[in-house]
Amino acid sequence: MTGKEFQPVLLFALITLTVLSGCEKGKTGVHPDFNITKRDITSVTDKLPHDIRSNIIKNPQCFLEYMERILNEPVDYAVLVDKKHALSSSYIPPDLVNIREYGLRTTKKYLRIRRIVIPDLTAMAEAARLQGVELVIGSSYRSYAYQKQLYSYYVRTEGKEKADKESARPGHSQHQLGTTMDFSPIDNKFIETKGGKWLDKYAWKYGFSLSYPPDSESITGYKYEPWHYRYVGRDVSFIIKRYFDGKQQLFLEFYDKTKEYFKKSLRK
Ligand code: DAL
Ligand code: ZN
Repeated sequence: MTGKEFQPVLLFALITLTVLSGCEKGKTGVHPDFNITKRDITSVTDKLPHDIRSNIIKNPQCFLEYMERILNEPVDYAVLVDKKHALSSSYIPPDLVNIREYGLRTTKKYLRIRRIVIPDLTAMAEAARLQGVELVIGSSYRSYAYQKQLYSYYVRTEGKEKADKESARPGHSQHQLGTTMDFSPIDNKFIETKGGKWLDKYAWKYGFSLSYPPDSESITGYKYEPWHYRYVGRDVSFIIKRYFDGKQQLFLEFYDKTKEYFKKSLRK
């Protein structure tokens, strides 16, 4: 092989290696499916905390790859429900099922969840079981009316100020979405249990995300709840972990503000 022939071979090998290494490594360009420049990414992320923003800017191709998947999901798993954004009092998820019918452990006979959560929930419980960890669900779907009772109970017993840091007002609870659950025991010590530790490490791989992480009261408005996980699907949970430092609230706010922009920027 002459030196002239060798150069294209080397170049080809280099390109192949870069492509095979996936969206996590070495790519700095923007995504072919989006009509978005690097400057656009810089501008659309300008309100995000510095570290999160620079993570995205450093590897926008991988970020956009996941954004595309999220935008194309048949269900919007990333609907923002928080202190400022409420569900309507009449919202009832369309596909609620009884969790126990799927071989999952619960503390009550009748706890419901959306059917779309079941495949990843059973996969996660099975993976935990194989490692000697039993996951038990203590609370899941809550109707608007039930959340109203629950919130009033906390206000009566603890006062409004404390209640607002622990319980959502009716319409403002992720539990009304039917994709959110509390693992048992619903207690601050949950993080010290085998289940708590296992979920903290692996839940994101199955599409579950901790909604109220430690030291995040200023972002979420709620105290740390190591037991409260929302199913957001594997693509959203990847983005939250990889780019948003595990801060679900920050991603959901960002997505809420920018999803129309990203949708419009998708090449048909
Ligand atoms: N404990 C959470 C914030 C809820 O009530 O939905
Ligand atoms: Zn909860």
